[in-house]
Amino acid sequence: MPSARPPTLALRDILFTQGFGTRRTCDALILGGHVRVAGQMVDDPRAAFATDRLVFEVDGVAWPYHDKALILLHKPAGYECSLRPSAWPGVHTLLPPPLRQRGVQPIGRLDQDTTGLLLLTDDGTLLHRLTSPKHHVPKVYHARTVHPVTTGQCARLVDGVVLHDDPQPVRAAAARPLDDHLLELTLTQGKYHQVKRMVAAVSNRVEALHRVAFGTLSLPPDLAPGQWRWVREQDLFGTPAARPANTGHGPGSTAG
Ligand code: URA
Repeated sequence: MPSARPPTLALRDILFTQGFGTRRTCDALILGGHVRVAGQMVDDPRAAFATDRLVFEVDGVAWPYHDKALILLHKPAGYECSLRPSAWPGVHTLLPPPLRQRGVQPIGRLDQDTTGLLLLTDDGTLLHRLTSPKHHVPKVYHARTVHPVTTGQCARLVDGVVLHDDPQPVRAAAARPLDDHLLELTLTQGKYHQVKRMVAAVSNRVEALHRVAFGTLSLPPDLAPGQWRWVREQDLFGTPAARPANTGHGPGSTAG
C-alpha cells in the first residue's frame, strides 16, 4: 500500500491562499527575496512545501499556514462588525492585510460599543454553522448596569422576557450578579441587541457590555483590546478547560 503523502503546494500558491495577493504579486514577493521557509530565503515560486505545520516568513514576519482562518479578536469599543461600516471603522481594519484579503468575516456581530471576544473566519461552512439559529453555542457577556442587579432580575432573565419584535419569550441560559452593577449573562441565541433589550425588559439598563466567552473559548487575559490571535476550531467545542491555542500566533496583534 502506498503511504499517504502530506499535501504539498507550490510556494506561490501557499502565499496566494494565505492572502498575499494575486499569483503575480506572490511571484514578485518570492522572486524579490522577501520570503523565507525554515529560515532560508526561497526565490523559486514553484518550490513545493508540505503545508502541514508550515511556517513561512514574509519580510521577516512569521505566518503559520492555515487552510482556513479562524481568528479571535479582542474587539475594542468604537468599531463596527459590518463589512461596510457606516459610522465607525470596521473591525477588519484591526487585522493585517493578508487576513483581510482572505475575506475573514465576523461570526455574528457585536455592537459598535460592545467590547470583548469576537471570532472571524473565512470558513463559510463554520460561519454558517455558528450563525444558524439552530446552533446554540453559549456566549457569555458581562453587562455593567445603571441600576443595581437584583436576584429577581436574574430570575426573570432566565424565566424568559418578551422583546418588542417577537411574542416568543427569550431566555438566558444563565444570569447572575457578579457585583452590585455587574451582571453575567449567558445566551444561546444571537438576536439584535439581545443583551441590552433583555436587560431593559427587566427595568435595568446596560451601560457597558463585554463578551468574555464563546463556546468553550474565553477571552485570553493577555490579549489587549485590538489584538488578535489564531485559534483552532476544536477550541470552540472542546472541553470547558480548553483555551485558545498558543501555537501559530503569526504576526499577533496589529493594533492596540
Ligand atoms: N447583545 C447586545 O445587546 N449587544 C451586543 O453587542 C451583543 C449582544
